Amino acid sequence: MNFQKMHVCSGQLSRESARYIAGGASSLNRKVEPDIVFSTGKGCRITDVEGNEYIDYHAAFGPHLLGHNNEQVNNAVLDTIRENLSLIGSGTNELEIRLAQLLCQAVPSLELVQIVNTGSEAVSHAIRLSRAFTGREHVILMLGGYNGWNDDVCRAVMPSLKQLGGRVSREEYPFLPNSAGIPEDNKRKVHIVNFNDLDSVETMLKRYPIACVLTEPVLQNVGVILPGPGYLKGLVDLCEAHGAVCIFDEVKTGFRSALGGYQSVENVKPHLSVFGKAVANGYPLGVIGGKAEIMQLFYHPDPAKRVLIAGTYNAHPVNTAAAIATLEMLEDPEVYRQIERRSKQLYEGLEKLLAEKGIPAVISSNASAFCVYFAGHRPYDLHDLLENVDFPLDRKYRHALIRNGIYHIPIACKQGSVSYAHTENDIHITLTATREALKSI
Ligand SMILES: Cc1ncc(COP(=O)(O)O)c(C=O)c1O
Repeated sequence: MNFQKMHVCSGQLSRESARYIAGGASSLNRKVEPDIVFSTGKGCRITDVEGNEYIDYHAAFGPHLLGHNNEQVNNAVLDTIRENLSLIGSGTNELEIRLAQLLCQAVPSLELVQIVNTGSEAVSHAIRLSRAFTGREHVILMLGGYNGWNDDVCRAVMPSLKQLGGRVSREEYPFLPNSAGIPEDNKRKVHIVNFNDLDSVETMLKRYPIACVLTEPVLQNVGVILPGPGYLKGLVDLCEAHGAVCIFDEVKTGFRSALGGYQSVENVKPHLSVFGKAVANGYPLGVIGGKAEIMQLFYHPDPAKRVLIAGTYNAHPVNTAAAIATLEMLEDPEVYRQIERRSKQLYEGLEKLLAEKGIPAVISSNASAFCVYFAGHRPYDLHDLLENVDFPLDRKYRHALIRNGIYHIPIACKQGSVSYAHTENDIHITLTATREALKSI
């Protein structure tokens, strides 16, 4: 059955939405084909308005590490409401103190934190802090990375090879904006270099007054591209040698990779880090944190040196309670062990099915984050990915999975996410459905 026939109610709701919401959804990254309107999510399952149920690996772009509507997290949220905890009075409160404590205990590089609402906000604050700390304005970002929607970071995540040109080293790529309306000055001060290429970072550090190097430790917005051995430590060392701030954007990797973030997996300490998504298992919360020497600029006694941190909804009790409950659950190592077991079961099963099918495909993973690349090897950078991945086949695969009750966002090379809520049987059902799906592509 074609998707339009399968999703008649979805189609009607989408048309109604577009009458009032510009573009028909509140984040246009969510507009995909097939255009399915979902109504509920519980555990690892999501249901659309037609009543079709799917085993979910999209996890709403990553946050639901414990699954949708985790009971412990939801109960913590309900308690804050029952206890009349709203945005009360002024000053601090017990919830934000507890969350900050948990964060600093979990991630060794966090000496001080601030709590905001989204990953993009956290990134914005981190960049501004680094500019204030160094007195410089230029920024280095990675090709194939995504760091939110702010003017400084809003470049094309997956441009075409034609737009990109050939691979360059000891050089930068053009800033290809991902949006209209970005001031030229921002584009001029942002330098995009290839991931896994320390030589290019060093060249930019020598060429420009660089305030910060900002990177996802694992590129998880173009599937899963892992850092090479020593790369992340090399970035921190280069920043130290050139007086720049090294910022890890752990919005996707944080807490999904490990309780200490991906940085704890490699035992590397960036100067600043930002977190979001899995930290509150689906409630809106962002974190910025790191070295006290830098974070103290948020409360510097000299107003000329002070960096503004403000936000009506920062550390809102509902979201803060959700984050506390999430981190308290993640403190139990058995939670990570279970997610790891399920992930392994899935990856091994998929590898077998793909080999049986006889098409070139590999699985790249970082803990519970994974991507099936329809290519002969795991890509090591964006050029490699763009040159070798069979995009039309990837889209066909995702569509076939949806027809068989498995939901991955139908965009080629987007990360899949396993959660604590996926049971052994759910993975078994997923593999059976995948076998069927593969027959049709
Ligand atoms: C690595 C990374 N950084 C930052 C962001 C922005 O976070 P938010 O969407 O919460 O603003 C995202 C969102 O996908 C992300 O993947």
